[in-house]
Amino acid sequence: MLHAILALLADGQFHSGEKLGEQLGVSRAAIWKSLQRLEQQGFPLHRVRGKGYRIPPGAVLLDCDLVQAALPAPLQQRWQWHLYQQVDSTNAQAQRLIAESGVRPLVVIAEQQTAGRGRRGRQWSSPFGQNLYMSFVEPVSGGAQGLEGLSLVVGLTLVQTLDACGYQGCQLKWPNDILLNGAKLAGVLLEISGDLTADAVVVIGVGVNVLMEQDGTIDQGWTSLRRSGQKALLDRNQLIAAFAQRLAQALALFARDGFAAFQAQWQACDAWLGAEVQVISGANILVGSNLGVDTTGALRLLTAEGERQVSGGEVSLRLSHAS
Ligand code: BTN
Repeated sequence: MLHAILALLADGQFHSGEKLGEQLGVSRAAIWKSLQRLEQQGFPLHRVRGKGYRIPPGAVLLDCDLVQAALPAPLQQRWQWHLYQQVDSTNAQAQRLIAESGVRPLVVIAEQQTAGRGRRGRQWSSPFGQNLYMSFVEPVSGGAQGLEGLSLVVGLTLVQTLDACGYQGCQLKWPNDILLNGAKLAGVLLEISGDLTADAVVVIGVGVNVLMEQDGTIDQGWTSLRRSGQKALLDRNQLIAAFAQRLAQALALFARDGFAAFQAQWQACDAWLGAEVQVISGANILVGSNLGVDTTGALRLLTAEGERQVSGGEVSLRLSHAS
């Protein structure tokens, strides 16, 4: 029923509970009950006495059929799609699916994650119905070494997708944070398993804050597409399809030419190019000027001892003179 209510509200206009009930053949109280849980979970439901309910235009629930219908015909069978209302982590679920049924290209999406994984052992905030939590499974031949730079390509693909969907100013922070107005909008977590020297499998996990407006649990500056105030696409099914389409193209180019094909585009989106930065790896801190990325995706840092290359992994980057 929630799907049907949100589909009626997707025009962004106010609808009275009574009218919604009439349209769906249920009572006003049943409409309220359905929407109450959503509101309690932080979904941006706007309720005004005498007017009814309103949601941001296009803020509907996830639907694999709608995602697939929005893909061009040749891509409609490329992945097997799996949608969950609640899962611990879409990356973990993707790994369970391939362990159970074998490796094949598939996508896991979820309305909510109870143990969303971030980089460096962090939690990824994953409230119901508001953001994108998706994991793409890709078989990899030729060993994990060929995957160097892939997580940067995924971040770049997301920035380019969001740009095409109407969001201006999305940028990258090495290795794979997506920023908007200097705050974190999205993140990428790649997990590789199988035979790392031959036939491996990569789970490409992507989280994007879409409708989220409040979250007291995140310990860093964050934003969401809605919070940015830009009036662009908020329909998560359409956003997934737009990203999947670009990801398929990017994966094909990456398999052929590696990160070198993306180096210039990546650097053009680098939020901190030329800035004084600190690379933090456990207790080690390397300070220098950010010269961009090399053809493998490693960070080029000009330190007091000369140029150093830093590869991804469990490192993080900070501005040296953050205000
Ligand atoms: C980061 O820390 O920046 C990476 C965040 C990655 C979050 C996504 S949400 C979908 C997928 N499933 C997970 O458990 N994590 C990734």
